[in-house]
Amino acid sequence: MAQDVQQREQWGSKLGFILAAAGSAVGLGNIWRFPYLTGQHGGAAFVCVYVAIVFLIGFSVMVAEMAIGRKAQLNAVGAFQKVKGGAWPLVGWMGVLAGFLILSYYSVIGGWTIKYFFWSFTGLMGQAGAGKAGDVFGGFVTNTPEVIAYHAVFMAMTIWIVYKGVGEGIEKYCKIMMPALFVILIILIIRSVTLEGAGKGIEFYVKPDFSKLTGKAVGAALGQAFFSLSLGMGCMLTYGSYVDKRTPLPSSAIQVCVIDTSVAILAGFAIFPAVFAFGVEAGAGPGLTFVTLPSVFAKMPGSSIWSALFFLLLFFAAITSAISLLEVVSAYFIDSGWTRPRAALVMGILMFLLGIPSAMSLAGAPKIAGKDFLDAMDFIASNVLLPLGGVFIALFVGWVWTAEARKEVSNEGTYTFGLMEVWIWICKILAPLAILYIFITGLKW
Ligand code: PFF
Repeated sequence: MAQDVQQREQWGSKLGFILAAAGSAVGLGNIWRFPYLTGQHGGAAFVCVYVAIVFLIGFSVMVAEMAIGRKAQLNAVGAFQKVKGGAWPLVGWMGVLAGFLILSYYSVIGGWTIKYFFWSFTGLMGQAGAGKAGDVFGGFVTNTPEVIAYHAVFMAMTIWIVYKGVGEGIEKYCKIMMPALFVILIILIIRSVTLEGAGKGIEFYVKPDFSKLTGKAVGAALGQAFFSLSLGMGCMLTYGSYVDKRTPLPSSAIQVCVIDTSVAILAGFAIFPAVFAFGVEAGAGPGLTFVTLPSVFAKMPGSSIWSALFFLLLFFAAITSAISLLEVVSAYFIDSGWTRPRAALVMGILMFLLGIPSAMSLAGAPKIAGKDFLDAMDFIASNVLLPLGGVFIALFVGWVWTAEARKEVSNEGTYTFGLMEVWIWICKILAPLAILYIFITGLKW
C-alpha cells in the first residue's frame, strides 16, 4: 500500500510536530464552545472535571493514536490494515468519513471568520454599535453567494497548505500561526480584564458551582474534550505517522493537551469579562461569537482593531484545525498512490461541495430530519463517529495490540514511560467505558 516507506515525509523538528498537533487541537471548539460550556455548567467546577478528563482519557487516546500511526507509517485506514487487518481498518474509514464531514461545515464557519475580519474595518462596528449585530449577522448568513464565496476562499487556503506538504506546508504555517494566536489571545485578555466591571464576568466564568455538575455536564465535558483534542478520527494517528522514532510520544501528547486546555480556558478570560463589563447578554456558539462579541467590541475605543484581532485569532484557530482534517483524508489517497497535490485538491473540492448545503443552512436549505444541515453534519461526526472511533482505538491498544503498543511507546525500549501500566489500563477499561457513556448520553438527535 505504501508507495515508498523510506520517503515518507516527516516533521522538521519536535517543536514543529507539537505546534502542528496543537494547531489541530486548538480550533473553533476551544474559542466558542468551551467558554460557553464552562459558564453554563458550573464554572471552575466544570473546568476541574474537564481537566481530569483531558489528562486521563484524552491524553491516553492521543498516545494510542500517535503510537499506531508512527508504528505503521501510514494513514488512518492503511495503519490499521498494516498493524492488524481484519475489520480494524473500518475504524480508519470512519475517521476519514468524519474528517470529510467535519471539514465541510468547519470551512463554512472559517469563511465567516474571514468575512468578519475585513468587515471589522468596513462597517460592522457602526452597525453593531447601533444594536444591529444580530440583524447584520442574519443578513450575512442568508446571503448564500457571499457565504459560499468565503467558504471557497477558506477551503482554497486549506488546500494550499496541505498541498505544500507536511514540512513546507502544515508545519511551516502552524509554526507562524500558533505563536501569533497565543500573542493575540494574551493581548485580548489584558484588554478584557482591565475593563471596568470585568470582575462580574470573571466571577460568572470561574466561580465554582458544584450543584451544576450534573451527569449531563460530565457528558458535555467528555464530548468537548474529544472534539477539542481532535481525537477519535485518526488525526493524531496521521500526524503521528510523520514523527521520527526517537521522539517520546507521551511527553509530546502532554504538551498538546496542555496547550489545548490552556487556550480553551484563556479564551473565556478574553470573552466573559468584556461581555459583562458592557452588560451585553451572552449568547451561545455562533451567537456568542458573531453577535455578542461584535456588540461588545463596538463599545470599546479602537473597536475595529479589537474586533479584527479577535476574528484573526479565530481564523488562525480554524485554519490550523482545517488543514489537519484535510490531511487525514488526503493521507489515505497519497498512501494509495496519488500525488499530494492531486489528493489535496480533489478531496478539498469535494469537501467544499459537500459544504454548500451547510453554507445555505441558515438561509433555508432543506433540513435533515428536522435539523439544519450544518448541525446534522456536526452531530453525525462529533456525537457518533468520533466517540465510536475513540472507543475502538482505546480497545485496540488495550486488548488487541497491547504488546506492540508498549514497544512503540517506549521507543523500542530506549525510553521509559513511567505511567505505562496506568496508560494501558485506561485504554483497556476506563476510556472505553467513559466514551461509551458520552456516546449514549449524546445520542439525542
Ligand atoms: N479540535 C478542533 C476544534 O477544537 O475546533 C476540531 C477538530 C479538528 C476535530 C480536527 C477533529 C479533528 F480531527
